[in-house]
Amino acid sequence: MNVHTDAPPRELTVVPRCALHAVPSTLLIPLAARAWGDERYPWLACGDQDARRLLACLEPGARAWLDDAWVVLNVLWRTRVLKEVAGRFFAAHPHAAGVNLGCGLSNPFQWLDTGRNTWVDADLPEVMSLRHTLLPARPPRWRGVAVDLRTPGWWRRLGLPAGRAARRPGKRPAEPVFLLCEGVLMYLRPPQVRAVLQEFAAQAPPGSQFLADFISCLGVGHARWVPSLAHSRAQFHWGAGGWSDFTDAHPRLRLLERHSAAEIRGLWLRLMEAGCEPLLGPALYGMALLGVADALLTGDAT
Ligand SMILES: C[S@@+](CC[C@H](N)C(=O)[O-])C[C@H]1O[C@@H](n2cnc3c(N)ncnc32)[C@H](O)[C@@H]1O
Repeated sequence: MNVHTDAPPRELTVVPRCALHAVPSTLLIPLAARAWGDERYPWLACGDQDARRLLACLEPGARAWLDDAWVVLNVLWRTRVLKEVAGRFFAAHPHAAGVNLGCGLSNPFQWLDTGRNTWVDADLPEVMSLRHTLLPARPPRWRGVAVDLRTPGWWRRLGLPAGRAARRPGKRPAEPVFLLCEGVLMYLRPPQVRAVLQEFAAQAPPGSQFLADFISCLGVGHARWVPSLAHSRAQFHWGAGGWSDFTDAHPRLRLLERHSAAEIRGLWLRLMEAGCEPLLGPALYGMALLGVADALLTGDAT
């Protein structure tokens, strides 16, 4: 249902923000950016068809988050990067599966549906039950699955194709998978981030991609300085100290693309980031696109 309105649909109850725990409640911030950011920053407009309606059901006062310009711009920028990167992937693999890890109430499938691909939205159980009420998936091509990324085995629980099958004689290679992980890794502990990357690397069929945003390692422990997060109890636990943080976790991981949100903020920030990389890591806020080497290096390793 794509409705452009600020009022909650009559059949839905307004869900109070306090119904969500600290980290899940952060889903409201990118939702607000996608709902209202287009008006303020039309040059980065994302054209989200669902965000305003969903927000009206959850947090009618969410317009206040628009004043956190840094975060709103980051969300609109990352949506643009996502559309470009994932758009290319699904143009090359129109039947492949897409996965939105830590999906919150975002709906990138509205832009990435080829008519033949499949999509899985995955988040903690409390978010998935909210999602089931407000933004139900439509099986069989679009599914929602409750999963905790801190628990190993999420690849199998999501029902994703096992890359290992590609090595069995007579078996057709599995389709590659596209994974999106926006606004999630910074809330996990470093060993948990490493484990998520390892599971992707160990399981993904050749050609799969993993797109994640990240904050600088300087931001760890400082969520209170982000106006939209200041009153939540959510905290940043992980930030990238170097691009190698993404690939060190597993020998199969490859860094395919690097993006910094400094690209929308002008030359001075780009120069500052380039000069301060040893201190602040790859970017104050950025995105990494990871791929996997063709060979599978775990389990039945060569
Ligand atoms: C800032 S929100 C981002 C939501 C969405 N990706 C977006 O861009 O609108 C962070 C999301 O990560 C989810 N999340 C955090 N820790 C998680 C975990 N261990 N397993 C699954 N999801 C998690 C939260 O529940 C929340 O929905």
